[in-house]
Amino acid sequence: MKRFVLAAIAAVALGGAAYADTIKVGVIGPFSGPFALQGKNFKAGIDAYMAINGKKVGNDEVEVIYRDVPQADPAQSKALAQELVVKEKVQYLAGFYFTPDAMAVTPILKQANVPMVIFNAATSAIVTKSPLVVRTSFTTWQTSTPIAKVAYDAGVKKVISVVSDYGPGVDAENAFKAGFEKQGGEVVQAIRMPLSTNDFSPIMQRIKDSGAQGVFAFLPSGPTTLGFVKAYNENGLKSAGIKLFAPGDLTQESDLPALGDAALGMQTTFHYAISHDSPENKAFVAAADKAIGNPAELTFPAVGAFDGMHVIYKMIEATGGKQDAQKAVDAVKGLSWVSPRGPVTIDAESRHITQNIYLREVAKGSDGKYYNKEIQTFEKQGDPGLAAAK
Ligand code: PHB
Repeated sequence: MKRFVLAAIAAVALGGAAYADTIKVGVIGPFSGPFALQGKNFKAGIDAYMAINGKKVGNDEVEVIYRDVPQADPAQSKALAQELVVKEKVQYLAGFYFTPDAMAVTPILKQANVPMVIFNAATSAIVTKSPLVVRTSFTTWQTSTPIAKVAYDAGVKKVISVVSDYGPGVDAENAFKAGFEKQGGEVVQAIRMPLSTNDFSPIMQRIKDSGAQGVFAFLPSGPTTLGFVKAYNENGLKSAGIKLFAPGDLTQESDLPALGDAALGMQTTFHYAISHDSPENKAFVAAADKAIGNPAELTFPAVGAFDGMHVIYKMIEATGGKQDAQKAVDAVKGLSWVSPRGPVTIDAESRHITQNIYLREVAKGSDGKYYNKEIQTFEKQGDPGLAAAK
């Protein structure tokens, strides 16, 4: 206390220079359990950002506090967000891998006077639930719309769609169907599987029986996607010539070694590939590799977190470290910068990120390592799902 008073007096004596505060950022994500690698990537992205940009904004020191929600669990997410706000006095809430965990927290933002920066959760509607939400990841509408054109252009006219039965899955199903029908294609059947599904053999049988030439699929990245793509290969769908079309959640880089040669040539559309060729991405990957320890574990949630920290730093700067959630959010509306993924803008109206979406193909490098090779760019994509979400 005495120290505090002395420091405050010193600050005043120095001509009213701002007193250095600690600004706390509460990050909620899966840090244990089956999706722990995704949470580890949040932390790697944050650590990489702070290693490159420092831990201070102006006079203020940024401190990140982590809370673990291992699987989609809205009640636990909300309880932890409240604890972070009330006990830890965080000025920012961030992270959120799963949509339900983000949705559950939007009602407390206004009263808590805290912005939410979403590093992953990808259902379009989340940003409409509170004016204090900003998102630096992607939506499944954004990533699944271009793959519909890719599928049609590949000569596939009849597709069966298979998604996890919750927000981002339903959005992906609708996005693909809208895009594919616009081209002239037909979605012959739409299967929604419980999020907890881990035996995909019966689904593979239904895909075979449907007579479709291709399958569109979305599941949240993690053991789920690895299991699904393995089942697709092992149940003979690939060898039967049934093509798989998906957003990049299904070929996250950390899963590629386990998928092996069977995934070679698989095409997906997504906002980020670790192989993205730019100086910004080289700097990011070098810092994130160091932060995560094992480069083979690096995957896309790290870039959502890295850019999310950029947004939070800009918010802290704009508010001079004072707690004013609306002012903080207003300050990043229309903000543009060059992300490791390419040029991005926080759309002023939706507060969601506008970005390039890339068509990528799983390839094997001269070093024998599998990677997502970018082969086409769909520039400056906003979120086509927002009209549907309203
Ligand atoms: C989500 O729950 O919104 C979510 C999770 C993982 C993904 C995509 C979306 O890969």
